[in-house]
Amino acid sequence: MQALHGAKNVSVTIKTLAEIEKMRVAGRLAADVLDMISEYVAPGVTTGELNERCHRYITQHQQAIPAPLNYQGFPKSICTSVNHQVCHGIPGDRVLRSGDILNIDVTIIKDGYHGDTSKMFLLGNTKPFCNRLVDVAQQALWLGIRQVRPGLQLGDLGYCIQRYVEQHRFSVVRDYCGHGIGRCFHEDPQVLHYGKPGTGLALQPGMTFTIEPMVNAGKSAIRVLPDQWTVVTKDRKLSAQWEHTILCTETGYEVLTLRAEEQALAEQN
Ligand code: MF3
Ligand code: CO
Ligand code: CO
Repeated sequence: MQALHGAKNVSVTIKTLAEIEKMRVAGRLAADVLDMISEYVAPGVTTGELNERCHRYITQHQQAIPAPLNYQGFPKSICTSVNHQVCHGIPGDRVLRSGDILNIDVTIIKDGYHGDTSKMFLLGNTKPFCNRLVDVAQQALWLGIRQVRPGLQLGDLGYCIQRYVEQHRFSVVRDYCGHGIGRCFHEDPQVLHYGKPGTGLALQPGMTFTIEPMVNAGKSAIRVLPDQWTVVTKDRKLSAQWEHTILCTETGYEVLTLRAEEQALAEQN
């Protein structure tokens, strides 16, 4: 979501056990959509076709609601962001080609609760540089996830992601951030992917939020295309993003949108 700067009142909801159970279901369904669509992501398909498949799966098979559709006027059911597109790309007639990198961002609503997750796809033969960028973005997300526990301050979370990304000579997007999530798509708090240690809100058990770092190959500056949605890098260099919905537990965290293919990452400390 778009980061708002300046003073504001923050009202974070603590989920009850019953709500957490619903968040688990919603998270699982969002993750399942990414698993389902994987085999269709290949050179030659359009982002519009991927949108259609996800829409049908979510509405018919899952009996759930694709949250992006009509959200503040967004016209499609998923976001597809290719190459130098940072986020909020609108699926359409664009044909994916070998060498492209693609983010698919899925948010579903089930029984009133949201699950939000995204992953990167490498199409055909991608350059080693692309693979590195995509890998650093995924590691940055997981580095952040592993910090989560009661008492962790959001400034520390942001700092650890930022430091990792910058050590690899990439940059973190400042204008968009992770967010609380639950009955609403975007709730408090804002989860920035950069920050100052020892600052910010302290996490409590029962908070649910996303971590979704956007990592740019070049500079962090972005602009929004005239379609009013697609966010691109100003320098037109590549960008990569991964996202999970996380629950802060009594002892640490639970990844509500975990996919089997990330099991190894999930078991790493
Ligand atoms: N899924 C995005 C996020 O992670 C938000 C997309 S809003 C939309 O916060 F309207 F573009 F779908
Ligand atoms: Co999100
Ligand atoms: Co998302």
